[in-house]
Amino acid sequence: MKLKISRRVSAIQPSATLAIAGLARELKAKGKPVLSFSAGEPDFTSPEGALAAARDALDKGETRYTANSGIPELKKAIAAYYKTRFDLDYAPSEIIVSSGAKQILYQAVQTLADLDDEVLLPSPAWVSYVEQVRLADAREVIIDTSATGFVPSREDIEGALSEKTAGMIINTPNNPTGVVYGRDTLEMLADVARRNDLWIIYDEIYERLVYGEAKHYNILQIAPDLRDRVITVNGVSKAYSMTGWRIGYALGPKEAIAKIDDVQSHLNSNASSIAQWASVGAIESGEPYVERNRLEFERRRDLLMDLLSGVEGLRIEQPEGAFYAFIDVRNSSEPDDNEFCRRILEEKFVALVPGDAFFAPGYVRMSYACSENDIREGVERIKEFLRR
Ligand SMILES: Cc1ncc(COP(=O)(O)O)c(C=O)c1O
Repeated sequence: MKLKISRRVSAIQPSATLAIAGLARELKAKGKPVLSFSAGEPDFTSPEGALAAARDALDKGETRYTANSGIPELKKAIAAYYKTRFDLDYAPSEIIVSSGAKQILYQAVQTLADLDDEVLLPSPAWVSYVEQVRLADAREVIIDTSATGFVPSREDIEGALSEKTAGMIINTPNNPTGVVYGRDTLEMLADVARRNDLWIIYDEIYERLVYGEAKHYNILQIAPDLRDRVITVNGVSKAYSMTGWRIGYALGPKEAIAKIDDVQSHLNSNASSIAQWASVGAIESGEPYVERNRLEFERRRDLLMDLLSGVEGLRIEQPEGAFYAFIDVRNSSEPDDNEFCRRILEEKFVALVPGDAFFAPGYVRMSYACSENDIREGVERIKEFLRR
């Protein structure tokens, strides 16, 4: 007998980023000289403060279930961080810790989106938002921002509204484009949310990785009156190179956080106790580490832009945040992004992610969270590929 898979799950598309990374790993295991620019993770070791706190937690026997929504020490560290960084006040009951920002996003969408609700998603959009919205039996409304510099315009956002619009998921600094939304854009989004009674899930997981003159804002710094309708999502994965520890968190109004907590109570209870303690160590002592790595990413970004600028057929805007370059390949010798990524991996062992995975066909995403040598060698191989 063939098992019947539910309608909801049958419709899921597996994560394209993870699929490419998996294929790249397979080729590498076969001894191929693979250069991977596909993964969304920094290549640094986690900060010493995190490692020491984890060792200490082990020695102290912190190996049991914790409070569902996170240990008080971590919530306290997060609250202090948000006060210092954004001058925002959150009580422990307004904070929840989970196993990665991905999980907290899933729980937030489950909590806020109802059957047939419409959720606005400016695209290019991170792969998991759409699937998470669909898993809540809600519907995504994709707003193409490619004609407006990857920033949503008021016209496009308002044009996408309907009676069913319930909320929007905003991601800045943005994966995959590296764009950082400015004050005007955030004011506009806040205004639309205010007038139309929408919730906002505000994913600022890359907030520490912003370069040059660009400045990141939490949307509540700009529109404090929206405090009751904004769920901010963040985590330690990107800023502290702690992707494997799986700690993400959300801050929001108490009632919504309590419901997100209820969802979590039936999913995984609490996030790993040791990883929570490691995150306390990271947040409390990691500032010099974060700044050092930010500068390193900025150097790599500048190098990549320099190397790519003269390459025929490629177009790219300088990314201002995160660690991705989003390259327009439509005028290159391989204009189809899926074919581009498949072939360059097979022929030149370079792993990139097709823009199609982010609702942006014709582009490829290249992560520069890797060594300078890899960036130099990668661009050489891209040039050879395009010349072939
Ligand atoms: C935009 C965005 N949000 C959330 C996440 C999830 O991060 P975490 O590792 O904390 O689950 C990622 C990871 O790639 C991301 O790019």
